[in-house]
Amino acid sequence: MFIVLEGIDGCGKSTQIINLADFFFHQDKYNHIVVTREPYRRREIREILKTNEMPNEKKDQLVYLFVEDRKEHFKEVIIPSLNRGHIVLCDRYKYSTICYQSAQGFSLERLLDMHRFMPVPDLVFVFDVNVETALKRVSYDYSRKKESKFEQKNFLEVVRRNYLSLNELFPDENIILIDGNESERVVFEKIKKAIQKI
Ligand code: TYD
Repeated sequence: MFIVLEGIDGCGKSTQIINLADFFFHQDKYNHIVVTREPYRRREIREILKTNEMPNEKKDQLVYLFVEDRKEHFKEVIIPSLNRGHIVLCDRYKYSTICYQSAQGFSLERLLDMHRFMPVPDLVFVFDVNVETALKRVSYDYSRKKESKFEQKNFLEVVRRNYLSLNELFPDENIILIDGNESERVVFEKIKKAIQKI
């Protein structure tokens, strides 16, 4: 099973991925869980995110790096783990590039084209939160000193809207929208219910 968690910065996906790993780990002694994230390995990506002044700068370079990084990620981690029968939980995937880089002004059609032949997850959770709430969470988290330049209100509003239209863009994919404004516990109960359904 390949499960992806998505949403704007501060939506709570990184907390919920750990809850989900814990849930699967205790559910069955034969479950083996791989928790992973994107961006995967390319250090240039984080450098650009830290140092760029404007969110819409360097979009061409970023798209190229995110997509190449993703190809390495699924070749080296995602596919081999799924082939071994492990449960793969991934913090961000192609939906991040589609929502963030189209908010940067990159052509949506080209973004969709670049991801056409990539593995499709069994399940995608999109955590939807108010941008104000998300930004508050991000600024309270002191471990995150090197924030990305994407953490700006107007930009994240556009990214959020893009996330909300993912179901229309990918009608054949299993994308579940979760209201992430509630408490960690309530949000996690919703995730468990969705999983039990499938
Ligand atoms: P991430 O480390 O996941 O940040 P967070 O922990 O806040 O979710 O991602 C870093 C930033 O990179 C984040 O602002 C989202 C952005 N991003 C893209 O713009 N495109 C992508 O394809 C990915 C994977 C991330």
